[in-house]
Amino acid sequence: MNNHFLKFKDISTYDINEITDRAIELKSGSQSNVLSNLSAVLLFEKPSLRTKLGFWVGVQKLGGNPLYFGPEEVGLGSRESVRDVSSVISRIADIIIIRTFEHEKIHEFSKYSSVPVINALTDHEHPCQALADIQTIKENLTEIKGSKVAFIGDGNNVSRSLSYALAGSGANLVIASPNNYQIDDKTIDCANRYAINTGGSVTKISDPKKAVLNADIIYTDVWASMGQEKEQEIRKAAFERYQVNENLLDMASKNVKFMHDLPAHPNEEISENLLYDERSIVFPQSENRMWSQMALIEKIIKRK
Ligand code: NVA
Repeated sequence: MNNHFLKFKDISTYDINEITDRAIELKSGSQSNVLSNLSAVLLFEKPSLRTKLGFWVGVQKLGGNPLYFGPEEVGLGSRESVRDVSSVISRIADIIIIRTFEHEKIHEFSKYSSVPVINALTDHEHPCQALADIQTIKENLTEIKGSKVAFIGDGNNVSRSLSYALAGSGANLVIASPNNYQIDDKTIDCANRYAINTGGSVTKISDPKKAVLNADIIYTDVWASMGQEKEQEIRKAAFERYQVNENLLDMASKNVKFMHDLPAHPNEEISENLLYDERSIVFPQSENRMWSQMALIEKIIKRK
């Protein structure tokens, strides 16, 4: 395993299983002091609830000291160069967790960092979310291998990391998106290559009703991600047929579960009360952000 976790492919398909199994153990009471006397810097250029909270409390549970810098504070690449910020922080802190816009920025940061860097979301990937998703699916299905997941929505950072995570876990992911918002072919090809020995697969289509047939999990995300606020109205029109609602869930497998990385926009990508439907596993999924991030940090620190 690479010392940085910038994109999902930085971990092997073997690591996915190990990290998510460990997350389940930590959740059921197993203890770890792996960050004792160590500091974790959280450097966030976009808003965050689950990621920030999960890392903050998770670092404390691992015996470490979390230090948070919000969007106004550091000015990564504007007030100070990415290289200089990286060189300073990595001389003092022991692990760095970054949420930013351009993926290139975190990549550049990692080049100059002498300590591990974790991607807490960029425009390109959201790999920590995907780890929590695998943990959640393992907790809710008898077998993740061979299961079918339908992602209805944007070919974005969340669906991109999920492609690697699911294919790498032996699951079959179908991504249904409108034209112009489909996931790129490079991701599909790379995810299918990454999963060559797992039996998993990723495909894309445009019909959401076809995508959910026999699905064990239906997953969605916002139509306009952070940084795309100006496109909100255009996207609303393009994604109109892609709302996940009770009727769509009824078309899937009898025991289908519903997932969303949150925050949600009721009456847009989901119907008004879907988060509270008995088939929703959205809130345990959000809790798992913390457990899987703890398991990830533990693995990275032990490998250092
Ligand atoms: N795709 C969303 C995920 C939020 C957790 C965004 O990037 O805003």
